[in-house]
Amino acid sequence: MSDLVIKPSRGLRGEITLPGDKSLSHRSVIFASIAEGVTTINGFLTGEDTQNTAKAAQKMGIQVDGLGTDHLIVHGKGLDGLSEPAGVLDLGNSGTGMRLLAGLLAGQDFFSVLTGDEYLVKRPMGRIIEPLRRMGAQIDGRSNGKLAPLAIKGAGRGTKAIDYTSPVASAQVKSAILLAGLYAEGETSITEPSKSRDHTERMFRFFGVDIKEQGLRVCVRGRQTLRAKGLLDIPADISSAAFFMVAASIVPGSDLLIKNAGVNPTRTGIIDVLRLMGADITLLNQREQAGESVADIRVKHKKLHAVRIAGDMVPRAIDEIPVLSVAASYAEGKTVIQDATELRVKESDRIATMATELRKMGVAITERPDGMEIMGRESLDGATCESHGDHRIAMSMAVAGLAARGETVVRDCGWIDTSFPGFERLLKQAAY
Ligand code: S3P
Repeated sequence: MSDLVIKPSRGLRGEITLPGDKSLSHRSVIFASIAEGVTTINGFLTGEDTQNTAKAAQKMGIQVDGLGTDHLIVHGKGLDGLSEPAGVLDLGNSGTGMRLLAGLLAGQDFFSVLTGDEYLVKRPMGRIIEPLRRMGAQIDGRSNGKLAPLAIKGAGRGTKAIDYTSPVASAQVKSAILLAGLYAEGETSITEPSKSRDHTERMFRFFGVDIKEQGLRVCVRGRQTLRAKGLLDIPADISSAAFFMVAASIVPGSDLLIKNAGVNPTRTGIIDVLRLMGADITLLNQREQAGESVADIRVKHKKLHAVRIAGDMVPRAIDEIPVLSVAASYAEGKTVIQDATELRVKESDRIATMATELRKMGVAITERPDGMEIMGRESLDGATCESHGDHRIAMSMAVAGLAARGETVVRDCGWIDTSFPGFERLLKQAAY
């Protein structure tokens, strides 16, 4: 697979528009499939992960036009309109695709099999399988249902409502249970230890589903109808914007405008942490779109300083911690990241992989079971880095290379296409 060669940048400048939000894209095609009526989705992410979710919808009998473009038309068939897929549903690299669909499939009256690539079949599925079994679905998989491939015989009309307390703050777990809960008689609730992203709650409301939130508890009544609203506009992914926000912060001479990015408060940990580090970030033109907050984000270079990232901040920045560790490498002082054990079960073990790769560039990092300690430096040394099959590690190391001395090569970068097609072109457009 392709390597990315990164030379030092003299500043990221201009205006860029990034691809659509991954979390919202997965949800948009799933929810539109079980809604009554036709939904036109603008800004759908053309990355491999979300394409696989759209293909899964097609395999369950849903007409999805425009696959491969960012403009999908989904012909919803209502709550009970899905049909048994003839083949295996392959979600590729995507934990979100697999976990959300497992929740949806737990409520169907048919059989299905979910699988993924060599990385996804190693990621923990017990966290959704255990509550979905309690809701009545018969689920099996490797390691007694803890690992994919997963075989699911949904509970259909026999789906049982549960009150579930999740040990992890995970929007994937929350969403799986809420999707299965749509098929149950009565009210299903999920309580999490701290608040994870709330896109499912917001998009349910957008489709007319009544959903209640009391602190960390979310409840949905089953058998509600989702109604298509015509148009669903997806903003750019703040997790993709994060790479550019850090790049513009660490490269002197930068002044970058990122257009039309989602700024849902459960996702803006990246902005809060960077501001705590002293970054110069301004939100412009803030507005609401399909139940989500959207803004243009202006970032100018500013010398950063160390910070502590822990507690409730972690789920709000979970996917951005790899690139925040790059920001910390260029910050003055020692940054401490704690309470982030979840990083170890992402597309790669992101504590181990970031520590390994940043060390190659001369950064002193101590790994902790739940995070890391990073000693910032004035500059890093260009190096040859690996992606570890993880899109966010590849992009984080490319960003690290922009402010380093000499050239950086990031190997095996095809993985970037799972979430951010066009990354290299956009980065080079802004940085050189
Ligand atoms: C996501 C939730 C997060 C995140 C992932 C997308 C989602 O995972 O890391 O990239 O869309 O629900 P967890 O919910 O497992 O923390």
